[in-house]
Amino acid sequence: MQNQLVYMDHGATTPVRKEVVDSMLPFFQEQYGNPSSLHTPGRKVRQAVDEAREKTAQALGADPEDIYFTSGGTESNNIAMRGTAKNRSGGGHIITSSIEHHAVFDVCRDLENEGYKVTYLPVDQFGRVSPEMVRKAIKPDTFIISIMAANNEIGTLQPIREIGSLAGELGILFHTDAVQVVGQLPVNVDDLNVDFLSLSAHKFNGPKGIGALYVRKGVKVDSIYRGGSQERKMRPGTENVPGIIGLSRALELAVSDIPKKKKRLEALRDELIGGLLRIDDVVLNGHPEQRLPGNVNVSFKHIEGESVLLSLDMEGIAASSGSACSSGSLEPSHVLSATGLDQSTAHGSVRFSLGWGNSKEDVDYVLQKVPSIVERLRNISPTYHSR
Ligand SMILES: Cc1ncc(COP(=O)(O)O)c(C=O)c1O
Repeated sequence: MQNQLVYMDHGATTPVRKEVVDSMLPFFQEQYGNPSSLHTPGRKVRQAVDEAREKTAQALGADPEDIYFTSGGTESNNIAMRGTAKNRSGGGHIITSSIEHHAVFDVCRDLENEGYKVTYLPVDQFGRVSPEMVRKAIKPDTFIISIMAANNEIGTLQPIREIGSLAGELGILFHTDAVQVVGQLPVNVDDLNVDFLSLSAHKFNGPKGIGALYVRKGVKVDSIYRGGSQERKMRPGTENVPGIIGLSRALELAVSDIPKKKKRLEALRDELIGGLLRIDDVVLNGHPEQRLPGNVNVSFKHIEGESVLLSLDMEGIAASSGSACSSGSLEPSHVLSATGLDQSTAHGSVRFSLGWGNSKEDVDYVLQKVPSIVERLRNISPTYHSR
């Protein structure tokens, strides 16, 4: 086992940059005032929160008043979807995809149980939603479309701009869960034609437990919470000030790094994909080009992704399993199933997600270790021998 960790699970979370930690530290002990307090310590912190909102808005091409800080991607998605549905109250139709993160997918399931109608659009073999399918699914009472900007498992990028302009033309609200994209690729809310956009700081080298929701001016959303008047009642509760400061700093840094980071990660990604595909019976999951710069998701046929992960872990490599059975069930992920992958191939899926800290040496190390791991596991795999 090597001493150094090769961390390739940036899709799950990322390390917080030192500059980000430094920006947060004063807000734990020196500037601890409550931003709602009228006294000087409170007002100083209010000013810092306002500045963070401006920076966050700037990074997205938005107005500061359209940014609401939340506890992360999950909460942003819940507020957008539930808050819009609540505003309608009389029911209606929602369009989403069959590969959304559970923070959208499961909310839609709940809304269905509450009397809303939901269309879960199918995806092609690469995990892409077609704007034409969206158009065909629209009904007279469709009030919101929610399609993620990029999938967290297979990294496929969606045609958000096209879907956004379609929704805009027809006066239907459009939400995108951009948790995997913000900080990795340029994002501009006007360019993407979105009414709502969810993001989460821990995916772009910021702290965990803090995120934001962009809501276009004039769009009606009912608050799903009751409490104080923080975040204009959309997300009441005393603000996570260090988190907000950290999010805005991390976003500022991530956005300015995008051009060089994207190029570097794409090169490492393609090298890793190329190397893995040289092993027999390995297939790439997700789109060959339209994918996140750092996302590599492959299936090693005839073996379990979890077994590969454990072996990788023994070699100091941290990745994740696409077929992760979060619920403890043996079903492969809804994402891989939706792309039409057969159950057994889906079970052999592993996601390597690259980030800022990864180097060519890391990719070489992974490519040096994986073939022998796969060979060893296949040697003890009954399905490999009976193929
Ligand atoms: C696409 C997507 N949406 C939402 C979330 C949830 O974000 P958070 O962990 O900030 O609640 C994640 C996290 O993995 C994600 O990848």
